[in-house]
Amino acid sequence: MTEPVLEVRNLNLDIVKDRRAIPILRDVSFSVEEGELRGIAGESGAGKSMTMYCLTSLLPRRTVQIRGEILFREEDGSRTDLLKLPWKERQRFSASHTCLILQDSINALNPFERIDAQWMETALLHRPGGNRDEIRGRILQQLDTFGIHGGEEVLRKYPHQLSGGMRQRIAIAMALESPAKLLIADEPTTSLDTINQRRIVEFIVELCRERGLSMLYITHNLGIVQAICGTVTVMKDGRIIEQGRTDEVFADPQAAYTKALLEGTKSLQR
Ligand SMILES: Nc1ncnc2c1ncn2[C@@H]1O[C@H](COP(=O)(O)OP(=O)(O)OP(=O)(O)O)[C@@H](O)[C@H]1O
Ligand SMILES: [Mg+2]
Repeated sequence: MTEPVLEVRNLNLDIVKDRRAIPILRDVSFSVEEGELRGIAGESGAGKSMTMYCLTSLLPRRTVQIRGEILFREEDGSRTDLLKLPWKERQRFSASHTCLILQDSINALNPFERIDAQWMETALLHRPGGNRDEIRGRILQQLDTFGIHGGEEVLRKYPHQLSGGMRQRIAIAMALESPAKLLIADEPTTSLDTINQRRIVEFIVELCRERGLSMLYITHNLGIVQAICGTVTVMKDGRIIEQGRTDEVFADPQAAYTKALLEGTKSLQR
């Protein structure tokens, strides 16, 4: 059997403030198999984003203590424990093993550069020496797929000349230029209206299937988890409360907390 694309074992995170260690994550363990779409759900403050920051090495070294194992599968099938690498190598390693889509990914756009220039730069970063005309053609196709109308005209604009929703869709499309096998999305569609949310989520899922990507989808929205994730991890107060196949967890939640979360979602849908 092949190893999972990602395996997290007993991840513990403390934030150190005034010489005191504040516990943030406790014994978080889960894995993501090839092609698996796993949802990470839980209320605000559950530790979902903090888990993601550990995987992506986005925490400031001086203020955190991380223990456990974060094992990424390499192309040759071997595994590398991110937490065994020296700090200065971790961010580059995470960047090459994950494709990250954040809630505020619009902030990833450079306000001083036209969309086409920054998109081209990102594409070339992942495909050094790529053919510019070919890349431009593909970018125009992507605009269409993401429901961004205006083609060339949009590409000539600066980020502030576009709506927030458009910027977010462009930022997501640009993030997807990465060839990494694991996609991590943290509430990627919150600033979009329902129709565009659906469209983007469906597009991301389709892309995972096409490219054989795995995904960690972090969200409050259990409806989305049910619609797209085969497996789910429910978190609360920095711990995992319950996890398993989404259909089983939703049909027969074992933990009172999961039941309450599901009830909350149902009452909102009524
Ligand atoms: N710099 C910090 N110092 C101390 N505690 C922090 C710090 N940053 C975050 N936390 C705490 O870490 C916990 C987990 O936060 P996290 O952002 O991971 O939650 P989340 O599940 O992503 O919530 P949301 O759904 O609102 O995004 C929270 O209790 C938060 O207060
Ligand atoms: Mg969060």
